Amino acid sequence: MPANLQKDILILAIESSCDDTAAAIIKNGKILSNKVSTQSIHQLYGGVVPELASRAHQQNIVPVVEIALMEAQIELNDLDAVAFTKGPGLIGSLMVGCSFAKSISQSLSIPLIGINHMQAHVLAHFIDEPRPEFPFLCLTVSGGHTQIVKLTSYFESEVLGKTIDDAAGEAFDKAAKILGLPYPGGPLIDTYAKNGNPLAFPFPQPQIPNLDYSFSGLKTSFLYFIQKQIILDQNFIKNNLEDLCASIQFAIIKHLMKKVIIAMKETGINQISLAGGVSANSSLRKAIEEEGINRNWKTFVPAFEYCTDNAAMIAMAAHYKFIERDFENMDTAPYARNY
Ligand code: KG4
Ligand code: ZN
Repeated sequence: MPANLQKDILILAIESSCDDTAAAIIKNGKILSNKVSTQSIHQLYGGVVPELASRAHQQNIVPVVEIALMEAQIELNDLDAVAFTKGPGLIGSLMVGCSFAKSISQSLSIPLIGINHMQAHVLAHFIDEPRPEFPFLCLTVSGGHTQIVKLTSYFESEVLGKTIDDAAGEAFDKAAKILGLPYPGGPLIDTYAKNGNPLAFPFPQPQIPNLDYSFSGLKTSFLYFIQKQIILDQNFIKNNLEDLCASIQFAIIKHLMKKVIIAMKETGINQISLAGGVSANSSLRKAIEEEGINRNWKTFVPAFEYCTDNAAMIAMAAHYKFIERDFENMDTAPYARNY
């Protein structure tokens, strides 16, 4: 190859931290394919069953990777590196992705890259234009996490505030469960809320100091309210489903936005991004965009396919790690919680 021609960087990325088995191919920082297989078996149990999740990853990982390679029109032998989600997540699920990536790395003699799932959610903002500039803040809201992070470079961040109990996605899912909706209920609450009145049933706002969040009190007051109303009217949920969804969604988003506004003021930073599964929520997307217009913020809302768990975000993070030559050894092991 002539000395002035840079070699392409082709990476296979695997995501298996929870109940989505995903694979993506990235070439020189551009996503060529992004495939995900969501495990429907958990719907039968009203939540993710870790043991079943690991087994389903084991069954899905080879076909998902094959489809990702096929769609990107590349062969395994073309790869320069393989990346996997190292944590946080369900340990059994993470181990499937980690072991699979290790075997590819060893058999092809290519570097192995371990990615932090939460960092990857934020770096999803670098997949497409427009991209935020450092420093920027990110509200990361998923089924397992809720935090406001300040990013100063791709891999340097500071958590400014986080939930002290449930995550925002968990609050959505638990509220949905109380309403008798199937798991994961977050997207269903979003859908029903579209035709409901957000002010129909006012729920008390959590009073938590600093930039931290709390959702467990909100969930309890929602549960007690419904239990009380059902005694008076057996069909209360059925007759008020849209208003109930709109009202609990309004309370969750109001709490999320309140801390974002304080964080933007305190840091003096004027760029805010959303990340994680709950960033797919239409009302949260609207709230941050409207607040951005009113307060002169630059807002970054991810494309829907990069909100919930996906391997494109792992691939994007892996691209930057490859450039830094930040590789793993063969004795690397996943971690369930953030270090
Ligand atoms: O990031 P993610 O796919 O997985 C985790 O890392 O947790 O987030 C999943 C969470 C679930 O709690 C799901 O109910 C929530 O994101 N979610 C939503 C919406 N779409 C997904 N919550 C509210 N509205 C939505 N449209
Ligand atoms: Zn996630």
